[in-house]
Amino acid sequence: MFVSKDLAVNEKGHLTIGGVDTVDLAKEYGTPLYVMDEDYIRQNMALFRDSIDKYYGGNGLVCYASKAFACKEMYRIAKDENIGVDIVSIGELYTAMQVDFPADKICYHGNNKTRREITMALEYGVEKLVVDNLMELDLVNEIAGQLGITAKILLRLTPGIDAHTHDFIKTGKIDSKFGLTIQLGDAMEGVKKAIALPHIQLLGFHCHIGSQILEISPFAHAAEVVLDFIAQVKKECGYELSILNLGGGFGIHYTLEDDPDPYDAYMEQVSRTVKAKTQELGLKLPYIIIEPGRSIVGPAGITLHTVGGIKNIPGYRKYVSVDGGMTDNIRYALYGSKYDFLLANKADQPKDDVVTLAGRCCESGDLLGEGVQLQTAQVGDILCTCATGAYNYTMSSNYNRVCTPGVVFVKGGESRVVIKAQTLEDLVRNDI
Ligand code: LLP
Repeated sequence: MFVSKDLAVNEKGHLTIGGVDTVDLAKEYGTPLYVMDEDYIRQNMALFRDSIDKYYGGNGLVCYASKAFACKEMYRIAKDENIGVDIVSIGELYTAMQVDFPADKICYHGNNKTRREITMALEYGVEKLVVDNLMELDLVNEIAGQLGITAKILLRLTPGIDAHTHDFIKTGKIDSKFGLTIQLGDAMEGVKKAIALPHIQLLGFHCHIGSQILEISPFAHAAEVVLDFIAQVKKECGYELSILNLGGGFGIHYTLEDDPDPYDAYMEQVSRTVKAKTQELGLKLPYIIIEPGRSIVGPAGITLHTVGGIKNIPGYRKYVSVDGGMTDNIRYALYGSKYDFLLANKADQPKDDVVTLAGRCCESGDLLGEGVQLQTAQVGDILCTCATGAYNYTMSSNYNRVCTPGVVFVKGGESRVVIKAQTLEDLVRNDI
């Protein structure tokens, strides 16, 4: 039993992804290697997109949160699937622009956007600039004025919701670097300021309560809190806002212990809550935006490494080292995140050993997992880490001057490179 539905074992006892033998992929492209199943990514996009049609009359937009995994091909796929994207930096914007991503389907986030970023976003025509704080509101107004346009914005709210996830990826609490807090009054101040500024058109609100959240109720609660605020704004300012962006954060199966609610159940429950609440408050049904990242790409990706040194310390533990580690997957070192591992070339064998998986960096904390159940490893085996499609490639680094692995997509039994592996020349390209 695997954490992702596109993984299976073939007649050679090898792990397959999207029907392609992972041991062959490791041979063809070398390791470390990220592999992603394109059909699975498209299915996840379609699931979210169709759930808005099914439960909310199509009155909304899915914006794939591209920080989970960004490259030209991902923006092409999102465009092709007729969904939007959430971006958070000039780098993501630039990449999206390379494939002519429709500007009206881009939500641009960030708690400290620079003048250059805001200018480039407005010049490109981004229509959903998510303004994070009062200083940024002034800056956007000033830049829009210089460009002779009106900036269409959402204000990011901090709804004061404490979702059950890792502290570093919680964002909806009052004590957060993001957004304007409803409870402390700065959200209302932001609204009044936005309405008064000449080059700003306030369209609605955004909130994001955190990431890898496995239940639906905190999202429904966040929707209620923001709708209450929309009602308060209507009362105090006579201004009814029409966009409700509920952010992303839907959890996935990293291990079989995780039990996320199905994605379309999310939209079903949120739609029900929004419909009931708007009726109670006498509001129009808002246009809903959701920003799933991890749930679109996470389960669709794996990482392949080759096993190198094996060190058994009797009475302590057995280290199995691989040719990557925190440079391509920092999530265990950073958050203690758990993954499901197996040896791709021994996928039909029992996991009869317990090991610590170590990376190759000069750093004791460079581990992929501890107390990991694994088939008995030998030098040259191919280690597969499952569900690495989100926040692995995008959080990779060149620590110790290790090259970033390439990314291969599989589709219809074929594979193709979508991001080339870095070369040694790439590493010194910008050195003087
Ligand atoms: N929208 C906003 C405004 C966000 O800040 C995020 C994630 C998302 C959407 C997408 O959330 P998702 O559906 O992917 O959970 N590096 C961490 C995750 C940080 C998430 C940051 N914001 C990790 O590896 O778990």
